[in-house]
Amino acid sequence: MAIKLEIIQNQEKLYNRGAEIIANALKNGAETFGLATGGTMLPLYERLRNSDLDFSHCQSINLDEYVGIPKEHHESYHSYMKRQLFNKKPFKVTYIPNGEAIDIQQEANNYEELLKSLTVSLQVVGVGENGHIGFNEPGTPFNSETHVVELAESTREANARFFNSIEEVPKKAITMGISTILRAECILLIAIGEKKRFAMEALLKGEITEEIPVTSILQHPNVIVLTDLNVGE
Ligand code: GLP
Repeated sequence: MAIKLEIIQNQEKLYNRGAEIIANALKNGAETFGLATGGTMLPLYERLRNSDLDFSHCQSINLDEYVGIPKEHHESYHSYMKRQLFNKKPFKVTYIPNGEAIDIQQEANNYEELLKSLTVSLQVVGVGENGHIGFNEPGTPFNSETHVVELAESTREANARFFNSIEEVPKKAITMGISTILRAECILLIAIGEKKRFAMEALLKGEITEEIPVTSILQHPNVIVLTDLNVGE
């Protein structure tokens, strides 16, 4: 298996290790970072914000963005990234899909074209409770490129904690596809907490299935998985 699994039960240490992996990538010349959002990434970005790392010569490209809320909305991934990282650690250029585009399908196509012109050195990903990566819900073809998705009800419910009510959670998003994500040179997956056990056990079982999108990364030659779950032992 090309996955390098690191089980670190102490979350402080786990996130220190995550920050170290990013610092090492930077030191080794990485210039394009694929970034993710969600609760999982908050302690990671806290460490990057408080570090002496300099990303001002780098570019970042995010996995996904909601459709149907303005960029200024507190829970848009534009707002999240500014708050959690970019305000404190500016990059030369940052890319996030424009969920406000009039033609969201065209926006997805343009984002894919942009991604094809770049080489993502390190792609950070979290995982949904149902095994989604980015917003690629179960059943998404592994050859998918950046596209518009209808969010699964379970994903909307899981993300409702960030909004005032479930009605406020967008129903659509633009996300890098599975094949888009797999083009990165290296993938760093972080999975924390019991809610991620299903996805992590499926991953470590080693069976590659479109029903559990995270298992697609088993096809990738260079993946690091950081988890606090005692899986695969
Ligand atoms: C969200 C995001 C994913 C994220 C996942 C897990 O819906 N689109 O990129 O990895 O779900 O989120 P969390 O880290 O909050 O559990």
